[in-house]
Amino acid sequence: MKIFKDRKYLNKEIYKTSNLGFVPTMGGLHNGHKYLIKKAKKRSQKVVVSIFINPKQFNSKKDFKNYPRNLKKDLNILKKLKVDYVYLPNNKDIFSFKTKKKIFEDRFSKKLCGKFRKKHFKGVLIVVNRLLEIINPKYLFLGNKDFQQLSLILMHIKKRKIDTKIVPCKTIREKSGIACSSRNFSLTKREKKIASNIYTYLKKKKKLIKINKQLKKQLISISKQVKRLGVSKLEYLELLNLKNLKKPLSSKNKFNIFLAYYVGNVRLIDNF
Ligand code: PAF
Repeated sequence: MKIFKDRKYLNKEIYKTSNLGFVPTMGGLHNGHKYLIKKAKKRSQKVVVSIFINPKQFNSKKDFKNYPRNLKKDLNILKKLKVDYVYLPNNKDIFSFKTKKKIFEDRFSKKLCGKFRKKHFKGVLIVVNRLLEIINPKYLFLGNKDFQQLSLILMHIKKRKIDTKIVPCKTIREKSGIACSSRNFSLTKREKKIASNIYTYLKKKKKLIKINKQLKKQLISISKQVKRLGVSKLEYLELLNLKNLKKPLSSKNKFNIFLAYYVGNVRLIDNF
């Protein structure tokens, strides 16, 4: 496993690899990341994993500061997985060059998480656009847990005609049902139990939801129950048709429940 902090050296090493897989991360590696990396290894000749905690995608300095960091542990995980290249840039390496492509931020960025984290998706797109220019991978591996992020990156890549194919990967869950996330490292046992109860409750409830005139009422009652289960704040709980990113019009439409909430001080998102 080779580690690079400078994009020029990384570039020299990888520019000849035609079948390159890329897994971007902010560290705090968990089973979800491990799954992405395993998928990448199967599909690509060489795999690059980046670890960069992107300051532009955090709403508050406090959230940025409190984001879990454990580089030593992360590097051990990557070594065990036999990753070929790790890219560990600093701010300067990422932000000090002029990009060829402009950001395309679709209006979908204003929905769901975008209503509560104003500049978040723009920050994500800025950094992913730069990482793609530096690495120029054939495949980009992203998790469905961050479905809105994945959709917006997909739209940017399409609009800007970037020659990288996104490989969406399923959400990996802990035994308790909660989606793997770096933020789970900050949860107490009690908070984990709350998150697990919310998942179990909503998973059952999803089957009973009827798309009709009473939908609003049903969602209000479901949200009330989620709050009773112990969240400190429910930001949103919405249904979305995965194909057109709109509210489902009939129960036949395939939809997912999307939600963001806080348990204690930790913000969690999920969709299923
Ligand atoms: O999902 C993440 O970890 C980040 O948003 C990403 C894609 C690495 C960009 O900073």
